[in-house]
Amino acid sequence: PALHTLLNLDEIEAAAKTQVSKKCWAYYFSAADDLFSKYYNGSVFRSILLRPRVFVDCTTCSTSTTLLGGAARVGTPLYVSPAAMARLAHPDGEAGIARGISPFGAMQLVSNNASQSPEQIVANAAPDAVFGWQLYVQTTRAKSEAMLARINKLPNFKCIVLTLDAPLPGKRELDEKSNLESQLIVDSESNDKGAGEKRPGGGGVGQQLFFGTAADLTWETTLPWLAEHTKLPIVLKGIQTHEDAYLAAQYAKKHPGTIKAVILSNHGGRSLDTAPPPVHTLLEIRKYCPEVFSIIDVWIDGGIKRGTDVVKALCLGAKAVGVGRAALWGLGAGGYKGVERTFQILQDEIVTCVKLLGVKDISELGPRFINSRMVERD
Ligand code: FNR
Repeated sequence: PALHTLLNLDEIEAAAKTQVSKKCWAYYFSAADDLFSKYYNGSVFRSILLRPRVFVDCTTCSTSTTLLGGAARVGTPLYVSPAAMARLAHPDGEAGIARGISPFGAMQLVSNNASQSPEQIVANAAPDAVFGWQLYVQTTRAKSEAMLARINKLPNFKCIVLTLDAPLPGKRELDEKSNLESQLIVDSESNDKGAGEKRPGGGGVGQQLFFGTAADLTWETTLPWLAEHTKLPIVLKGIQTHEDAYLAAQYAKKHPGTIKAVILSNHGGRSLDTAPPPVHTLLEIRKYCPEVFSIIDVWIDGGIKRGTDVVKALCLGAKAVGVGRAALWGLGAGGYKGVERTFQILQDEIVTCVKLLGVKDISELGPRFINSRMVERD
């Protein structure tokens, strides 16, 4: 179908399913165990109601904001979450995602396991485009250090995103099953190919990509090592409790110039099934340690399908909101143009929602615009 006839993210996903290989669909769609967290990530947003104010001039509306304590200016709080292997969906790959989101001034977080090099991706983006690079620390630390040195030289990269919720892959049965049929071999230049070493055969794409990922990361050892190899702000991805958000904020206070943001995420339900949806973690932080919001940015991803989902997260204190699969499905549905269509749909929905709430600028959004009682009682 023509892209302009697709009106929402479910229709984009359905269109992508008809275009991409069975293997690609299984890898992107899959999540851990019974997919409970994957679906709850999205459905929890529907239990939060909006509280629109009326009789307010809403002829204009601004969605631009600054992130990382002012280090990055973006046109929208909506960003692309890091996701491996975009070329499985379309030859445009991660560079196509960069091109597709460029009209919106959105940030793109590039996966450690991207199928194109960071240099190539930046070359396809707008000159002032904002990127972050996502790191899976490799057991061979030199491999990660070499990648950090490359990223440090690319001025469009404004942060290093350290993913913490996946020291090992979750049990993604759909991915594993379909790989038993196709035996797809995957690699990216920044993960540990372990020259000459054999990857375990048969496992899903996820398991193959995780070969060589370090499982021994800690607050005490990993952050000082990382700060030695980059001056870029550090973003911790995969925070799932208020306790860990609090630790991140305490670390940030003690070590200025290191952690500038946390991403509340359960990896789109792909790591630990029945892990909480990030909205629950956001509500926990509001309740137990709201000072976190004034020390570091809180970003969130998982289950975003509508502009209203994005706006609800912003009302609860998130500064930026990411989409993982939605960008990949856009790419699968029509290359960079499919990504552009996906972002157009979401950005239009965000603006419509903000205006109908009676708000002129997203900085005015706050808890008074939502009723989250049903979720808090959970
Ligand atoms: C991911 N995600 C992910 N995260 C990360 O830090 N590094 C990575 O390489 C990947 N790879 C990856 C591949 C695929 C196919 C998916 C679907 C996801 C997780 C991603 O960044 C994000 O947390 C979730 O995708 C958000 O949930 P939604 O938007 O997909 O529901």
